[in-house]
Amino acid sequence: MIINISNQDIEFIHELEAKFPNIFLENDILNDFKNNPYTKYIVYLIDSKIVGFLNYYEIYNRMEIVNFNVLDFFQNKHIGSRLLEYMIKYAKDKKIENITLEVRSDNEKAIYLYKKYGFIPVAKREKYYNDVDGILMEKELM
Ligand SMILES: CC(C)(COP(=O)(O)OP(=O)(O)OC[C@H]1O[C@@H](n2cnc3c(N)ncnc32)[C@H](O)[C@@H]1OP(=O)(O)O)[C@@H](O)C(=O)NCCC(=O)NCCS
Repeated sequence: MIINISNQDIEFIHELEAKFPNIFLENDILNDFKNNPYTKYIVYLIDSKIVGFLNYYEIYNRMEIVNFNVLDFFQNKHIGSRLLEYMIKYAKDKKIENITLEVRSDNEKAIYLYKKYGFIPVAKREKYYNDVDGILMEKELM
């Protein structure tokens, strides 16, 4: 099951922090969640427990994927695909114009998945991650 997390659902944010410690180590996720009106989270639940999530910014008519993760054990079971499909459908319903993201150039699986859902590479940030380039990708919706 996929749900949007609202500002009332602080328990989910604590669960995210606990389950994805590397990602949220340097970011104050609780502060972002409570005070950034543009940040949104959707989570994939199995037996009421989070196994994956997608965090994006929705700023007027554009969206940007900020974090996208599935727990190791649950990867390659199409949970990431379902999260992306859910977000893209939401974006279309809201008449969002485009969705952007950045991905490491060596992240073959993520790049494969983004291309599968219509994202195309539009720019490169050379050596953005030490020796690895960052690839900017975009999906036009309108
Ligand atoms: C990227 C991520 C969110 C995808 O979630 P997921 O649930 O594993 O993805 P899915 O199961 O929906 O889809 C995986 C697809 O990639 C394919 N795949 C698997 N390994 C691959 C590889 N090394 N190279 C290319 N494609 C690969 C699978 O065959 C599958 O394709 P299919 O849908 O055509 O069958 C997840 O792997 C993850 O959390 N990775 C670590 C964090 C990360 O890299 N996040 C993205 C940052 S931009």
